[in-house]
Amino acid sequence: MKQFTNVNDIENIHDLINEALLIKRNPYAFSELGKNKTLGLIFLNASLRTRLSTQKAAMNLGMHVMVMNIDKEGWALEMEDGAIMNGSTVEHVKDAAAVVGQYCDIIGIRCFPSLKNKEEDYSENVLLKFMTYCKVPVVSLESATLHPLQSFADVITIKENWKKVEKPKVVLTWAPHVKSLPQAVANSFAEWLCKVDADFVITHPKGYELSRKFTKGAKIIYNQEEALEDADFVYVKNWSCYTDYGKMIPQEKDWMLTNEKLKITNEAKVMHCLPVRRNVELSDEVLDGKKSLVLEQANNRLYAAQTILKKIIEFNFLPFGED
Ligand code: CP
Repeated sequence: MKQFTNVNDIENIHDLINEALLIKRNPYAFSELGKNKTLGLIFLNASLRTRLSTQKAAMNLGMHVMVMNIDKEGWALEMEDGAIMNGSTVEHVKDAAAVVGQYCDIIGIRCFPSLKNKEEDYSENVLLKFMTYCKVPVVSLESATLHPLQSFADVITIKENWKKVEKPKVVLTWAPHVKSLPQAVANSFAEWLCKVDADFVITHPKGYELSRKFTKGAKIIYNQEEALEDADFVYVKNWSCYTDYGKMIPQEKDWMLTNEKLKITNEAKVMHCLPVRRNVELSDEVLDGKKSLVLEQANNRLYAAQTILKKIIEFNFLPFGED
């Protein structure tokens, strides 16, 4: 694998999930693979899981890791090509990315959307500029539109928790929130679920339609109760409007997932990427209940990241790089 920014960087999703499960059984089997290789983790936004799981994944492969919260600790970055930098920005991404690329063999970058300018966010301006100028393989730690490491951990978790032959019914349900959030987790989950064997349904209030680029193949049902019927997995997530970009629409009913709503499902397991606003998106009783997979998902972030780093090292740095 040359780099990892979306599901299309993967050759075979089922093989990749199986490889992650093997790594989970024996996490130190490749502890020499990343020897003398350095992973740089660059954060333009906050993180707990992504930062720590990717750091630990690199350590399990014997890599060195450097982390920088560039939004707080670095110079204010200019993203515009040809900008006359006589304002508040101090360093151009062209220079910053090129410098970081000289210190690191692989770079992970987290860059959230502005939620103000759809065209700019959906062009993945920041991620692509970093990739262009750093000249080393890049791993997305969540970009403006996608969160592929999260989705990989999610499909690993579904695979581990589904032992039947028939396809599971997986429902992605919109949930309320107190502020506008990116569409990245939902876009990415949709993109990955459309590529695995699942009966995949998305439910949300009208106006919260995601980009069809990512949801092609999914069934969209606006009635949450109808969508939840017979579900085997329910993935809960808030996102702001894609069409009326970055906005929140007042809701006529409560979309928070409760134990009462779970009665409609086929004893569904419940997923959320975390961090979660308790008793806003999901009730305490669901999050702390037996059906909750949220900690398993967070744990699988480690094995998802480790599998991706292993594949990137094998492709880019081994003599006959193979994927
Ligand atoms: N799920 C997730 O990406 O968590 P962090 O934002 O804490 O990394």
